Amino acid sequence: MKIAIIGGSGLEDPDILKNPGETEVETPYGNPSSSFKTGRIEGVEVAILSRHGRDHGIPPSQVNSRANIWAIKELGCSHILATTACGSLRGEIERGDLVIPDQFIDFTRHREITFFERFEAGNLQHCPMSDPFDKNLRQKLIDTAGELNLAFHHKGTVITIEGPRFSTRAESNMFRMWGADIINMSVAPECILANEMQIPYAAVALSTDYDCWKTDEAPVTWEEVLRVFNQNVKNVIRLLKHTIAGF
Ligand code: ADE
Repeated sequence: MKIAIIGGSGLEDPDILKNPGETEVETPYGNPSSSFKTGRIEGVEVAILSRHGRDHGIPPSQVNSRANIWAIKELGCSHILATTACGSLRGEIERGDLVIPDQFIDFTRHREITFFERFEAGNLQHCPMSDPFDKNLRQKLIDTAGELNLAFHHKGTVITIEGPRFSTRAESNMFRMWGADIINMSVAPECILANEMQIPYAAVALSTDYDCWKTDEAPVTWEEVLRVFNQNVKNVIRLLKHTIAGF
């Protein structure tokens, strides 16, 4: 048992491990976003990767998710817990709420989305994606969030956009009509690639803004995303730590 944490915006360098060490991994796809911080939480082995690099120098479209997921596999991690800031596309998902998504819509356009670039010797690789987030891992997060009395939503559809720009109001309204509940720039193709590698993957999304569909709220800005994330990051960390302690 070894848990990989992929830390998103606002969680570049969490100080949550006992006896921390550092590991570099090389992959056939190039370098992962950062080195891995390794250590233990309540005796459970953990390896933490910073999705955008420790100094947040890697924009969403440039995140090398194939290298990241390959490296996580190479390290022998059995599960992936990913964190992400997100915008809320629903009135009932408030700033600071956590969401444990159960579905994604991939609206990215310029990313490497598969490990299966060639079907060798007739070995066709069409990975099922009906339920992309691991059910058992999600349930652990949901149970723990309940025990900790956190403000959270036990399911939701996340739409991942290419970025780095935010959406237009027309797009934001369209995503709501499509049934998306939250919006970010990172779950796809990361979750897709974890599925291809058969590593159970679940995400904790922290709602930081109302994107721009809600006319009685100011449209999202990056400063606002960071401000609200930093205000609530302790809840993300508590949820990760207690969930991992329960493994
Ligand atoms: N991350 C946080 N808020 C976001 C938004 N409104 N759109 C895309 N990614 C986000």
